[in-house]
Amino acid sequence: MTDTTQPTLPSKTGFEKTIDGKKTNLYLLKNKNGAEAAITNYGAHLLALLVPDKDGKLTDVVLGFSDIDGYKKALSSYYGATIGRYGNRIAKGHFVLDGRRYDLFINNKPNTLHGGSKGFNDVVWDVTQSNDQSITMTYLSKDGEEGYPGNLNVKVTYELTNDNAIKISYEATTDKNTIINLTNHSYFNLNGVGSGTILDHTLQLKAANYTPIDSTLIPTGEIAPVAGTPFDFTKAATIGSRINNTDAQLKNGKGYDHNFVLDKHDISTPVATATGDESGIVLEVFTDEPGIQFYSGNFMSGSNTFLNGKTDEQRTGFCLETQHYPDSPNHPKFPSTELKQGETYKTVTIYKFSVKK
Ligand code: BGC
Repeated sequence: MTDTTQPTLPSKTGFEKTIDGKKTNLYLLKNKNGAEAAITNYGAHLLALLVPDKDGKLTDVVLGFSDIDGYKKALSSYYGATIGRYGNRIAKGHFVLDGRRYDLFINNKPNTLHGGSKGFNDVVWDVTQSNDQSITMTYLSKDGEEGYPGNLNVKVTYELTNDNAIKISYEATTDKNTIINLTNHSYFNLNGVGSGTILDHTLQLKAANYTPIDSTLIPTGEIAPVAGTPFDFTKAATIGSRINNTDAQLKNGKGYDHNFVLDKHDISTPVATATGDESGIVLEVFTDEPGIQFYSGNFMSGSNTFLNGKTDEQRTGFCLETQHYPDSPNHPKFPSTELKQGETYKTVTIYKFSVKK
């Protein structure tokens, strides 16, 4: 049965708070074609994104909640969040930089995940600029915060472009050598929030290789070919077609929760394409990052209620987190995540929506 109800955006009241002495708010973006997005400066979250489906009906494709309490309750799932200072895992919560060992908070035993106990998803960002189609937020992560060296000035800009894309640009500078790996943790359901599992969505990843993981989801260090495995998405396949195969890597991830090594990462061609089987909505991901974490929502548990009243049942959303590889500081052969004093970190990811022709 087709659902004809129009999705709504979250209302401001749920996001007007004072947290850590700073004001939080909700910001709405709208492009010239009627697409709309909602963002908050609490954790620089993308809250909702309305784009047209094959019949022109606006559909919310980003999973999110009606208020900050919803985000606080679901903190460890990182719905729609900006992730930092280091996206994904660092083994056993430590790394060595310039001969010194740094210890981080173990929030995902036995590792650190997505920034530690209070990552960039749980702090209040300063809004430095906002207009109908874009918002820029900044955050100063102090030297020693969460164990990381260097005062890090971070900037993230969300822009809703007229071709129905959300362009996310990141920038950062530091006053001491440090490590950095920023990403966005939106969960997508291209048939609409709460419309069921994403197992019948098709996915194509321009990745001939991936980084296998151990049982704690830390890369073994190997760059392995996807050919002949359930990780081969070089040709479009449905997410669910092989997810229950007996495969040691799928077992380690409890499904897909792996970093794919992108063949090319030059922003001009999509590295990932997903299609909603019911809506016909197509998501193309563009990035200059070397990797992408494809997470099939395996740990979603049904314990959180979205804006439209639906709950976050297992695998009713998927993430495509553009990134440097997990645990890079402990794998000298992986592309480096070091940001040196005096350098500027810059990276861009675009999530572009259209409909299947
Ligand atoms: C990780 C998952 C984790 C999820 C939510 C993903 O980026 O790879 O293992 O469960 O984030 O925290």
